[in-house]
Amino acid sequence: MNGLLNALDQFGWAEFPGCLGEGDSLRLRQECRDAEQNGEFHRAGVGRGAQLQVREEVRGDKVLWLRTDAVYVEQNAYLAKLELLRLALNQRFFLGLFAFEGHFAIYPEGGFYRPHLDRHAGTQSRVVTAILYLNPDWKLGDGGELKLWTDTGAKCGPFVLIEPRMGTLVCFLSGDFWHEVLPAHKTRMSITGWFRQR
Ligand code: OGA
Ligand code: MN
Repeated sequence: MNGLLNALDQFGWAEFPGCLGEGDSLRLRQECRDAEQNGEFHRAGVGRGAQLQVREEVRGDKVLWLRTDAVYVEQNAYLAKLELLRLALNQRFFLGLFAFEGHFAIYPEGGFYRPHLDRHAGTQSRVVTAILYLNPDWKLGDGGELKLWTDTGAKCGPFVLIEPRMGTLVCFLSGDFWHEVLPAHKTRMSITGWFRQR
């Protein structure tokens, strides 16, 4: 966890391969797939509240918000880990993060998400983004990389490409870093979420 916190401190973003072990990742992935097969996902929207719209030219994923009911064992286990991360972030950076909201996301073949920031216009509640990837045999050439521009506030210039490999966790400051999901050449699963302040 210290490596992650140090990178966040220095760069404002961090990649942590193997953050979640293989067993935990596979069980979480299975819970995601079961829910999909039960038809629990819905098309992801853009914007919020009354402005929420499905716009396929902006993002092509479908999502399911994480749930805390006791039956969702793997989601609860992951949320418990994020709770430790929340406390560590508060202790280190005095961010006053009070909650985490997150969803599974499934990108079908050809799915992408155009460049964006993770803060809704006029809001400041999302402070730190945390994304966990759930793709066990991701190979170079499978697409679906997260492209993150590393200059704060910039949608051009230097960037990193992060492969959505099983167990990799990526964190960044939600309001500072432009990012996009490049077209996936096969189904791509993840959990995206945000630590929030009041
Ligand atoms: C998002 C997002 C990136 C990814 O859901 O807001 O930017 O790599 N996801 O899944
Ligand atoms: Mn995003």
